[in-house]
Amino acid sequence: MDSHDVQADLKHVLYSQEQIQERVAELAAQIDADYAGRDVLLVGVLKGAVMVMADLARALHSHVTMDWMAVSSYGSGTQSSGVVRILKDLETDLMGKHVLIVEDIIDSGLTLSWLKTNLISRGPASVEICTLLRKPQAAKVEIDVKYVGYEIPSEFVVGYGLDFAERYRNLDFIGTLAPHIYE
Ligand code: PRP
Repeated sequence: MDSHDVQADLKHVLYSQEQIQERVAELAAQIDADYAGRDVLLVGVLKGAVMVMADLARALHSHVTMDWMAVSSYGSGTQSSGVVRILKDLETDLMGKHVLIVEDIIDSGLTLSWLKTNLISRGPASVEICTLLRKPQAAKVEIDVKYVGYEIPSEFVVGYGLDFAERYRNLDFIGTLAPHIYE
């Protein structure tokens, strides 16, 4: 789907497909350089990270392996609570591995903060985070994120993996949702 298909549902387009592809390629170049000579395990966090994982992995020139986790925050509605439940765990043993967590968005930071601690406890050589979007104003915990695509204001964004009530994930761009959709 592109912006014409959902025009009435959006306030504006935040990042076009072309802009996202360019930024993902820049992140991939940085990751290639930083991990030169080391094998990386990309850990995608379902479901939002599917698009960024697919594009980032293909933009990398190094060998990587990929695995997936599904987690869910306890808590009401759209607010993350920091109490996280694993719905689907990794199949890979992390012992001695260089792990790069791939996310679509960091909002409060509570999910990633919990996830990073959880993965570190499994004995990897390193754990870093790559996120396409970050909302600095929404941060509730300090979290060290090595690769950030874009810092964005605290608005309701959808597309390129990000949903509202499970819709809009298949937009090829990132847009700001019009308030009449979620209010
Ligand atoms: C989103 C996102 C992160 C989390 C960030 O996932 O992919 O995992 O929320 O929020 P936080 O920084 O406030 O903890 P979501 O729970 O919406 O699941 P989804 O990826 O399946 O859409």
